[in-house]
Amino acid sequence: MELRKELHKHNYNYYVLNAPVISDQEFDRLLRELSDLESLHPELADPNSPTQRVGSDLNQEFETVLHERPMLSLSNTYNKGEVAEFYERVREGLAGEDFEISCELKFDGLSISLHYENGALVRAVTRGDGIQGDDVTANVRTIRSIPLQLAPGTGWPQVFEIRGEILMPWASFEALNRERELREEPLFANPRNAASGTLKSKQTAVVAQRKLDAYLYYLLGDEIPSDGHYENLQAARSWGFQVSQHMQKVRTLDEINAYIDYWDTERKNLPVATDGIVLKVNSLRQQRALGMTAKSPRWAIAYKFQAEQQSTILREVTFQVGRTGAVTPVANMEPVQLSGTIVRRATLHNADFMAGLNLHLGDHVLVEKGGEIIPKIVAVDEAFITPDRGPRVEFIKRCPECGTELVRFPGEAAWYCPNESGCPPQIKGRIEHFVSRRAMNIDTLGPETIDDLYARGLIHNIADLYDLSVDQLSGFNDSRIRSARKTIKAIDDSRQVPFDRVLFALGIRFVGETVAKILTQRFHDIDSLSRASLDDLLAVNTIGQAIAESVIRWFADMDNIFLLERLRSHGLQFSLSDERLAAQSDRLAGKTIVISGVFTHHSRDEYKALIEQHGGHNTGSISAKTSFILAGDNMGPAKLEKAQKLGIAIISEDEFLQMISAE
Ligand code: IVH
Repeated sequence: MELRKELHKHNYNYYVLNAPVISDQEFDRLLRELSDLESLHPELADPNSPTQRVGSDLNQEFETVLHERPMLSLSNTYNKGEVAEFYERVREGLAGEDFEISCELKFDGLSISLHYENGALVRAVTRGDGIQGDDVTANVRTIRSIPLQLAPGTGWPQVFEIRGEILMPWASFEALNRERELREEPLFANPRNAASGTLKSKQTAVVAQRKLDAYLYYLLGDEIPSDGHYENLQAARSWGFQVSQHMQKVRTLDEINAYIDYWDTERKNLPVATDGIVLKVNSLRQQRALGMTAKSPRWAIAYKFQAEQQSTILREVTFQVGRTGAVTPVANMEPVQLSGTIVRRATLHNADFMAGLNLHLGDHVLVEKGGEIIPKIVAVDEAFITPDRGPRVEFIKRCPECGTELVRFPGEAAWYCPNESGCPPQIKGRIEHFVSRRAMNIDTLGPETIDDLYARGLIHNIADLYDLSVDQLSGFNDSRIRSARKTIKAIDDSRQVPFDRVLFALGIRFVGETVAKILTQRFHDIDSLSRASLDDLLAVNTIGQAIAESVIRWFADMDNIFLLERLRSHGLQFSLSDERLAAQSDRLAGKTIVISGVFTHHSRDEYKALIEQHGGHNTGSISAKTSFILAGDNMGPAKLEKAQKLGIAIISEDEFLQMISAE
């Protein structure tokens, strides 16, 4: 279709060449036109149409796929001496033959393998363990700089693989973290984590929003155009791929060192994160001659840049109290410019880490920002220590928020404020956790409203939420009535939230979503759980000492018992529903089950719930411990092969339903 071709071309102009020839509005208009045409003619559907970039939600776990050729990693070095040794080894290995080195930026994202057949993207697989990875094709299709269909007549081979790096550009990363900060969601530490979290998202629409980018740096296949790696990539650029403009072919060690020095500073001006440079012998024939070691090719090496360090002055150490009562020390420093941002604060993690640095107020400290956005203090700059050094920084003994004496649990690094029911950040943190989406889902109550309600003395604990009125919430402010009504409705609705989520919402230490599910399956209601002994708890599969002790401690606290009684009187669910109870059995007890393929009778999530209900355990990957595979249609070939190799039974949907049925 002409329109598709035109849109592919505009995508390429915009995202790869950075030179759009039409306006965004015009592009959107063409895209809408295509989308309308496609809905009129479903027979012309094509997964690689430009309209498919914002796909539907994936409802399957990613399929594991074997790489056709293993995805190796590179050996790393941080010093130029080892680069010189690499150069020498190559020279010796090639017995005096001339050779060229391709110098490239080392992009700091996650590697991806893209497969093209007849010019169309057919599969995108993450590196995984290098032997097999996740099939993330649906998500990769949303990345605009990855061509879905190559322009005809540019000379691409029928079948080839191209590898590269998926990245989140700094600008998108910063915008994403700003948004997350507003919503009080945890921030991504660096663009690599953000890109990786995004690519593994089950919601393709989320991936599409997050603006990932990709640079390709390795072409493979039986019919690739040239013996030169550099030349192959230039060809790939002409087919529509985004290939870095900063590659350079050189011959001498001096040229290599000049490339390293230039990019060590210049990389700060790039739109994406880089963490070093990669040197590759350019000729594929020479690459084959040099071969591999067990882990990495002998024809390439990565030189990693040193993390940037700066010296600044330590002014003050403050202490933060989190939801669980853990106290974190934070260094406040004279602002200093470091890797493009101004740094004022650095986490000191915990008392031991802080003591290890032997900090004194007024010390000159060395701060470093590696791949993380949170900078760290690596040492005191000894050159500046004077006899009149300021006082040593000591960890506090009492909670900075409520004055309670801090405690430390055996085997843990953190000091805790034990005043769970009276310490403001702990109270507010627990309420925030209780209302969160995966718990009671009262998501109209944001942290600011909770702060406000707490400050006005209206809520001290989670049970108080159920006594709130619309007037109290709105503060008699007309403009807030609508949202106050919505919140009251969400609070009301939360009375129907099932027991396992209520248990999770209580915020008992170490009782996350999965543990809550396991506990409710085993104990059925809150009373039997509260009566369980340490041994009863330890007898439950996957419940260890720390979880068991934490549960016992929670129920031993009378404040919690009163809280439970109040919540119960408000009508919250404290037992498994009759339906769930009736459906429960131990027919799958002790069985570890992998789900794979597409199902007809129930959804995947329903099958997962059924496995749990019948005492089985669902895992994602096949191993010798797998009891059987519950397989629908189109089970992935890699999974099938692995199952056959390990001699693991494959059970159909019908057989499985038979297995768990009452007869
Ligand atoms: S080539 C066998 N080139 O660095 C050679 N890798 O351990 C395969 N990377 O996993 C890799 N930029 O994710 C190559 N220009 C570049 C690269 C690059 C980043 C990543 C890649 C790989 C890791 C090396």
